[in-house]
Amino acid sequence: MEHANINCNAINWNDEWKHEMDLWQNSSGKSCKEFWADEKSAAVYSREHVAHHQKRIDKTLEGLVLTPRTRVLDIGAGPGNLAVPMAKRVQSVTTIEPSAGMNAVMKECIQRQGVENIIPIEKTWEAVDPDLELSPSYDLVIASMSLGMRDIRAAIEKMNKVCRGEVTLFWHAGIPGWEDMPKTLWPQLFGTNYHGGPKSDLLFQVLYQMGIYPRIEVFSSHFHEVFVSLDAALAFYCKRFDQIQPVHHPMIQSYLEEKCVKTQEGFVHGFDHIAMKFSWKSKGAFHEKAA
Ligand SMILES: C[S@@+](CC[C@H](N)C(=O)[O-])C[C@H]1O[C@@H](n2cnc3c(N)ncnc32)[C@H](O)[C@@H]1O
Repeated sequence: MEHANINCNAINWNDEWKHEMDLWQNSSGKSCKEFWADEKSAAVYSREHVAHHQKRIDKTLEGLVLTPRTRVLDIGAGPGNLAVPMAKRVQSVTTIEPSAGMNAVMKECIQRQGVENIIPIEKTWEAVDPDLELSPSYDLVIASMSLGMRDIRAAIEKMNKVCRGEVTLFWHAGIPGWEDMPKTLWPQLFGTNYHGGPKSDLLFQVLYQMGIYPRIEVFSSHFHEVFVSLDAALAFYCKRFDQIQPVHHPMIQSYLEEKCVKTQEGFVHGFDHIAMKFSWKSKGAFHEKAA
C-alpha cells in the first residue's frame, strides 16, 4: 500500500473539527443545541429516566474533586444530570445551557430537589461574555458530552481563561448508539452516507496542537433511551433529523421495532457507549490577574 505523506503538524486540527461539525450539521439538518431545544426530547435524556444514567453520573462524579468550597462551571449542562448532584456537594454550580427544553427540565429538577446554589445561564458557551456574565475563577470547568462548538479551540481557550483548577471534558469515541440508525438507514433513505460529529481522536489533536497534554481515560457506559411507545420513539428520532418526511417513517419504524425492547418502563433503546475523559490543570487568566 502506498504511504500517504501526511504532515500532521501542517494540519490545522481546529479547521478539521469545524469541517466535521459542518458535515454533521448538514447530515442531520440541525445542530446539537437545536436538537435539545424541545422539552420532550430533553426529557428522554433525564427525569424519570435518570436511573438509567445513574451509573454514568456516579462514575463521572467519582472522578471529580468536589468539596464544599468548589465553584463549578458546567458547560452544556443539559437537564442538570451532573449539575444537580454536584450542587449538593459544592459551593455553587454555574450552568451554561442554550436549549430552552433542557433548561426547563433542569429547572423542574432544581425545584423538586430543593437545590439553591445553581446559577443558570441560558446561552451557548460561545455567546457568554465572561467579563459580564461569569464570576471567575472556577475551580472546576466541566463540559460533558456537550462539545457542540464549531470553533472548539476558541471554546477551550475560554474555558482555560476562567478556570484556576481542572478543566474536564467528556467526549464520544467510536460510533455512539444513536448514530447507528442514520448510518444504517441513510444510504437507503437518502442515497448518502450519514456523517456523525467529530470524535475524541480529533479533540486530542486539537488539544495537543494547543500545547495541552491532557490525562486521558476511556470511559465506558451503557445508555438507555426510554420511550412510552414506539410512536414516541419514532417522533424522537424524526425530530432529531430535519430531512425525515412521513414517507420515510415505515423504514425507521421497522428499525426501531427491531432495536427497542419492551420493558415495564416502556420501549427501551439501549446501547453501549464509549467516551473519553480529558482533563488538565489550568492556571486561568483571571486567576493570574488576581494573583
Ligand atoms: C447530551 S447533553 C449533555 C448534558 C450533560 N452535560 C450530561 O453529561 O448529561 C448535551 C448538551 O450540550 C448542549 N450544547 C450543545 N452545544 C452547546 C454550546 N455551544 N454551548 C453550550 N452548550 C451546548 C446541548 O444543548 C445539550 O443540552
